[in-house]
Amino acid sequence: MLAIIGGTGLTQLANLEITHRQVMRTPYGEPSGALIFGMIKQHEVVFLARHGYGHTIPPHKVNYRANLWALRDAGVKRVIAVAAVGGIRDDLTPGVVVVPDQIIDYTHGRDSTYFDRSERTVVHIDFTQPYTPAMRQQLLRAAEMAGVACVDGGVYATTQGPRLETAAEVMRMERDGVDMVGMTGMPEAVLARELGLEYATLSVVVNDAAGRRSSSQGIHLESVFEAIPPAMEKVRSILECVVKCDGD
Ligand code: HPA
Repeated sequence: MLAIIGGTGLTQLANLEITHRQVMRTPYGEPSGALIFGMIKQHEVVFLARHGYGHTIPPHKVNYRANLWALRDAGVKRVIAVAAVGGIRDDLTPGVVVVPDQIIDYTHGRDSTYFDRSERTVVHIDFTQPYTPAMRQQLLRAAEMAGVACVDGGVYATTQGPRLETAAEVMRMERDGVDMVGMTGMPEAVLARELGLEYATLSVVVNDAAGRRSSSQGIHLESVFEAIPPAMEKVRSILECVVKCDGD
């Protein structure tokens, strides 16, 4: 089964016909909310709002381990993560949708592995390609079918948040090869890998990153809120095409 983890701007899926909700318990505590099961175009999907249904959980407090564990226990094999980002690269301006292919993790203090209990033998998982290549291709094909322009590839940096970055931090990230910056990409991606789930991200640029273009003097939250609804419409139509093509 396919899961969709919604981020900022996507706390619900308008095109999801809800069949039931399920509260899950995990050895890692509570997920961000109940899992919402439903159908999109006659295909079963599970939805989870990463920040809670009232958008009350900040990025560094999200219980990523419980979220992925609960999805896996519910029978999920594949996860599409939707994540709002700030655009650093010149072509990644507000409204652009990207399927990133790499991650750099700048977070700290987050519970970022399931291998921290002495009773489990440590496995050093391969993370050379942090997103499942076949799922990335599926997202790109779905975007094409949906008629939504979508950028193929880019480096997603995860910062600790909840504050936004300084201009110097964005410059440093650019020197590191970063193209877009968000706050939730990690440890979500690595935990999915540890559980053997396929995982790919649809990043939605909702602002120019700090110090860049329209944000040269600061990030204007009003324009971020304006950018979110039309961008999430694009995401919804891509997701519809993904589930139509999904064999599960
Ligand atoms: N920085 C970090 N996270 C974000 C941003 C940003 O500029 N925009 C949306 N999420």
